[in-house]
Amino acid sequence: MKVLLLGATGNVGSRALPALIKHGHTVVAYVRSPSKLAPDKRAVLADVVVGSVLDKSALKAAILAHDCDAVFHAAGVAQMLGRSKTGEYNRAFAAVVAAIVEAREERSGPAIRAWLMSGFPVLDSAVPGRLIGDYMPMFPEHKENLALIRKQNEGDIAWSLFCANQMSPKHKEIRIPPPDDCSAANVVANADSPPEWRDTLKWVPLLGPYLNVFGLAGGYATSLEDPMDFIATDLEKGLQSEFVGKRVGLKMKKA
Ligand SMILES: NC(=O)c1ccc[n+]([C@@H]2O[C@H](COP(=O)([O-])OP(=O)(O)OC[C@H]3O[C@@H](n4cnc5c(N)ncnc54)[C@H](OP(=O)(O)O)[C@@H]3O)[C@@H](O)[C@H]2O)c1
Repeated sequence: MKVLLLGATGNVGSRALPALIKHGHTVVAYVRSPSKLAPDKRAVLADVVVGSVLDKSALKAAILAHDCDAVFHAAGVAQMLGRSKTGEYNRAFAAVVAAIVEAREERSGPAIRAWLMSGFPVLDSAVPGRLIGDYMPMFPEHKENLALIRKQNEGDIAWSLFCANQMSPKHKEIRIPPPDDCSAANVVANADSPPEWRDTLKWVPLLGPYLNVFGLAGGYATSLEDPMDFIATDLEKGLQSEFVGKRVGLKMKKA
């Protein structure tokens, strides 16, 4: 696919780039600090657009000018507790979603595929109708983004939220192509609830769901690189992906 990559200079976006290239996607980077793009990264990009993810018009123009059929939003960072004073994280998410929807409407044709970074708290807990974030009130901004994306028409934006837990680099150096040990084969994925989530401790009165979440959440830390290979692999399926319209949780496979 032709992918507009937002946040290509960050921890996630910089690992997404080699994975997207490995899987044959054409990548246009949308960045606010182009000087942070090393020459070897610049060389594999179809183009670089300089702008802010808060600028809906510039985002839309980039999608249309480059005829992108997918967007990967990895720009900004969610606050661990509360909301940023300016609400920038949520405003950026809203601008990205609106830009995609308006670009699709203006261009017509199929929905634009979008992978949007989100967080672990918006996955389902073991209690029906309750999110993990209802028991672990961290990164609350993701909940607002979930409410917004759920209101969108799937004919405009074929979204998936990557509900990431903590991610750490496997390799300090970011190479293109990525090393062979960075692969979707190293992760297991599930829609809407974390893969292999178990309904433990429900017999403990009142505290059961809290203990369940705090006891299990630590097992969902991943590398940065394997999930990026997973997303790049999924983008090869285009609009046929089983993860369209889903929140997606990942877990590292046992070695
Ligand atoms: N890393 C994790 O463990 C983790 C876990 C769960 C979820 N996430 C989520 O993953 C996403 C990316 O996280 P990250 O760790 O990659 O963050 P990061 O390393 O801080 O990267 C953020 C990126 O966003 C760009 N950016 C920020 N504001 C921008 C703006 N207004 N316009 C254009 N670009 C802007 C930054 O550009 P500059 O280089 O110019 O600053 C940078 O490329 C976030 O949504 C985060 O909440 C991350």
